[in-house]
Amino acid sequence: MFFSNQSLYICVNYKIKINRKYNPFQAMKKLLFSIILICTISSFSMGLSQTGQLPDVFITVGTLNTDLVYKVSGRDGKLYQSYLGSKLLNTSTLSKVSIIPLYYGPPVAEHLAYATFGTDNLFEPAIRMTHNDGNPSLELKYVSHNIEKQDANVTITHILLKDPEYPVEVTLNIKAFSAEDVIEQWVEIVHKEAKPLTIYNYASSMLHFDASKYWLTQFHSKWGEEMKMKESELTSGIKIIDSKLGAWATMYQSPGFFLSLNEKSDENNGELIAGTLAWSGNFQLLFELDEKNSLRVISGINPFASEYTIQPGKPFKTPSFIFTFSNHGKGLASRNLHRWAANYGLMDGTKERLPLLNMWESTVYEFDEKRLTDIMDDTKKLGLELFLIDDGWFGNKYPRNNDSSGIGDWQVNTAKLPNGLGYQIKEANNRGIKFGIWIEPEMVNPRSELYKSHPDWILKLPNRPEHYFRNQLMLDLSNPKVQEFVFNVVDGMVTTNPGIAYIKWDCNRMMTNPYSVYLKDKQSHLYIDYVNGLYSVLDRIHQKYPHLPMMLCASGGGRVDYGALRYFTEFWASDNSEPLSRIYIQWGYSYFFPAISVCNHVTAWGKTSLKFKTDVAMMGNMGYDLRINKMTENDLKFSQNAVANYKRIRDVIWHGDLYRLISPYEEHRAVLMYVNSEKNKAVLFAYTLNSRLFETFNRVRLQGLDPDKTYKIQEINVPVDGAPSGPSESGKSYTGDYLMKIGLNVGSVSPVTSSVFEITE
Ligand code: DGJ
Repeated sequence: MFFSNQSLYICVNYKIKINRKYNPFQAMKKLLFSIILICTISSFSMGLSQTGQLPDVFITVGTLNTDLVYKVSGRDGKLYQSYLGSKLLNTSTLSKVSIIPLYYGPPVAEHLAYATFGTDNLFEPAIRMTHNDGNPSLELKYVSHNIEKQDANVTITHILLKDPEYPVEVTLNIKAFSAEDVIEQWVEIVHKEAKPLTIYNYASSMLHFDASKYWLTQFHSKWGEEMKMKESELTSGIKIIDSKLGAWATMYQSPGFFLSLNEKSDENNGELIAGTLAWSGNFQLLFELDEKNSLRVISGINPFASEYTIQPGKPFKTPSFIFTFSNHGKGLASRNLHRWAANYGLMDGTKERLPLLNMWESTVYEFDEKRLTDIMDDTKKLGLELFLIDDGWFGNKYPRNNDSSGIGDWQVNTAKLPNGLGYQIKEANNRGIKFGIWIEPEMVNPRSELYKSHPDWILKLPNRPEHYFRNQLMLDLSNPKVQEFVFNVVDGMVTTNPGIAYIKWDCNRMMTNPYSVYLKDKQSHLYIDYVNGLYSVLDRIHQKYPHLPMMLCASGGGRVDYGALRYFTEFWASDNSEPLSRIYIQWGYSYFFPAISVCNHVTAWGKTSLKFKTDVAMMGNMGYDLRINKMTENDLKFSQNAVANYKRIRDVIWHGDLYRLISPYEEHRAVLMYVNSEKNKAVLFAYTLNSRLFETFNRVRLQGLDPDKTYKIQEINVPVDGAPSGPSESGKSYTGDYLMKIGLNVGSVSPVTSSVFEITE
């Protein structure tokens, strides 16, 4: 780029000199020299240099199989997205792409990499702001870029853009994870105007696509029915998927989506991107299909009620948009994201998890020390590794005996636990298990000492009644004093009780009453500052306790996103643990999150067999929340055996590659498998749902195995009476080639049955 600018400068200067001192011989000589010089430049130029404009310069962000290419246009110095898709053999071919001038409209139809508002952009902008002088427009021209190589796998390309007339700079950051084929994008905005300026739109990412058709797969939820999948064709105009729930990003809509290009994609076929926003608050995904059938996808914080004032010199950083491009369907996209999550997106994603027994569903708020130590005995008896004390252990003046009091007062309830947490931890450790604890530190009950002592720390509207949800209000995490309080709740608890080996962090309401005493005249900062305040607390906890496992919970799946998950080892996918519902819920999460991150508990929910519940919980991070002391002897034996099986195969489920073989959205069954990286071990889960009488199921062709290896098939989790779940092929051996081309009969056709197969080389 620098070379190109300088070359043009020389040419222009020569022209000026020729005009000033006219001498026909000299003029001929200089003219000849100019022609040679221009020819030389044109050989460097990849653009339209015959017209005298600067050459285009291409910036490629590549992963192993994907290229995202930007173009600095020689015509106008702006940055355009030139290409996104499968890796090109040679990106210089992009210079040959002709730009077709439109008959009526802007002079040239190209895709601005980060479209602004107010000048020539006619569609949704990525960024919009008002300058100090009231000018509501922004123009961004390329200034420079640099490539930061973090290690052999990760590079960050920083592209600096600037307004030619106003001191506003925008840096596009594009982080490429080569082996995982994942790209992360975020933006930093900084200005040097005399006074603060206001930004109204501030996307993390803007991507463009040119396909004949676009199919959007979105995931929507409600409490107990998380991650329902829906695919539809995008039509002309704007489609928005967003959240306005403040602290809950994902209760109604998930920020994860698939965008299939040209035609619908399935597990193994089709070109698509899978994208998601790493932000635990209001988000917006905007899909705009224009009159040329080009699609722009703008992802970021929801600008709704969130204009933000930025101080001179203080950068505003957006959250990251994370995406992967797949030319082999949704299966590959999920595996890319899972690998990325394990290595970069999830706290300790490559490590182990602790199968646990929670006491919540067997005791709710009614327990004492004896009841808890009995449950610890059950934890040990089942072969589990951690006992979790859930809600109800705190509050004295306002004891937490139901959900209307106590939150905010994080002192041990002396009536229930007279010997404190230390005693509980000791009892757990004496049994060879670890101890974990539930907290909900962003909240307060009006019936609490905290509510009385710090009314200014609570989000509530002036002149309006307080709006409760589950009888509670939210603390104002935009306020640094509240951040300090929340950090100290956790830090105090863990330093006083160093035996705490696990934290379940709950958040049982969305944000209403959106008013912060602390923010004064900047109320529109609340949605953003709340989430950043939460991150700053989590960051401090993570710095101090870098490997303390934490479960992200928000009334089930109210907050499941990669913004928070870098601080959490796992998440509570839903309060609904009825296994038929869970198959769909876990299926939905599996598109974006690895099994190791999804907590699935065997509980009393639903009327299905214990085996079915167990087999469903096993496809993830398995735990229990059940009265073990009420189990029959057979159920106990079955469960002990299942836990032992799980410990043997969990590594494959947690760290293996997922292949979704039969979707519950397409058949009356769901079949999926995990294969380890050496391809010498796999686990297959087959669930029969509401099948009809006389329905038959085809053989299932396996995936991801080594065709040359021979595998032994062994059904596990067989009920104690020894009856296999269906016409089992257990005990037989087949080559990977056979299993992947001919397939296996798996499972039974009887409704609500399941089978699990351990497949070993
Ligand atoms: C909601 C969670 O999702 C449950 O698992 C449990 O922890 C309750 N909160 C406790 O109040």
